[in-house]
Amino acid sequence: MSSPADFRSWAQARQSRTESTLQGVLPAPEIAPQRLHQAMRYAVLGGGKRVRPLLAFAAGEFAQADPGRVAIAGAAVELIHAYSLVHDDLPCMDDDVLRRGRPTCHVEYDEATALLVGDALHSLAFQLIAEYRLADDTTTQLEMVKLLAAAAGSRGMTGGQAIDLDAVGQTLSVAELEYMHIHKTGALIRAAALLGARCGNRLSEKELAQLDYFAKYVGLAFQIVDDVLDAEASTATLGKTAGKDAQQNKPTYVSALGVVRSKAFAEELRHNALKALDGFGERALRLRQLADFIVLRKF
Ligand code: IPE
Ligand code: IPE
Ligand code: MG
Ligand code: MG
Ligand code: MG
Repeated sequence: MSSPADFRSWAQARQSRTESTLQGVLPAPEIAPQRLHQAMRYAVLGGGKRVRPLLAFAAGEFAQADPGRVAIAGAAVELIHAYSLVHDDLPCMDDDVLRRGRPTCHVEYDEATALLVGDALHSLAFQLIAEYRLADDTTTQLEMVKLLAAAAGSRGMTGGQAIDLDAVGQTLSVAELEYMHIHKTGALIRAAALLGARCGNRLSEKELAQLDYFAKYVGLAFQIVDDVLDAEASTATLGKTAGKDAQQNKPTYVSALGVVRSKAFAEELRHNALKALDGFGERALRLRQLADFIVLRKF
């Protein structure tokens, strides 16, 4: 049995490991070009729930992976995520001034710098995956590069963001919303889990398929909960401007189904995610706890 306190201390230890890994791989602020490096560190360090690295660690434990390898894989996904947030907040996208309780990158620095921060974080993520030994054989490691590229690209997160921008002011069906959410948010969540597992022992086809189902359910649930929190939580709790989706006329699960049914659907997805891990016992403990954390979170 594992208590909530046990999960919290597991998560805290891995969040600090993620923080120190990111500290170490980001260029030092005094290295030229200083302003760009300072802005990169500003965008990445000292904030965020680090859900994607946590998923990588949990999937790594599932596959008995070396935590040192998983820390790098998780950091790479977090760098892509941080870049996606910097760009998501730009005036040409969601035009947000607050992120992780602080002014957004383009407000603290400037728009051009924020654009370059995204470019540089994206490259740094791939540099990590290519530079560190994350798998015993190079074929597996190359597959990891491909996996992250696909998750971040036009048929993953970036494509989802394009759909999101196109959808402003429109009414989307639930099927269309699902398509948008599994791309803009689900793709990186899925990559985090699969990359964490790839750092470890080779999983059977069946194990991999179960983990993949789990990650897909959790990824969709993550963005539905984000939509619900945007409508229900306060700016102070979220560390980002609440009520933005309605204000900007974004189609979301809340606009399509309302808060109550959106929450019920997220709960159903959590149930499906847990079901996908049936039969795995203790080795999937942290994955289960993360599914709970993601769906039941208040921020
Ligand atoms: C926010 O992600 C953007 C989405 C993809 C929904 P998170 O809620 O993981 O943001 P941080 O990293 O904790 O700030
Ligand atoms: C962002 O979705 C998804 C990304 C790929 C960054 P949102 O636009 O809803 O994220 P927040 O609410 O600004 O964090
Ligand atoms: Mg957005
Ligand atoms: Mg946004
Ligand atoms: Mg949102």
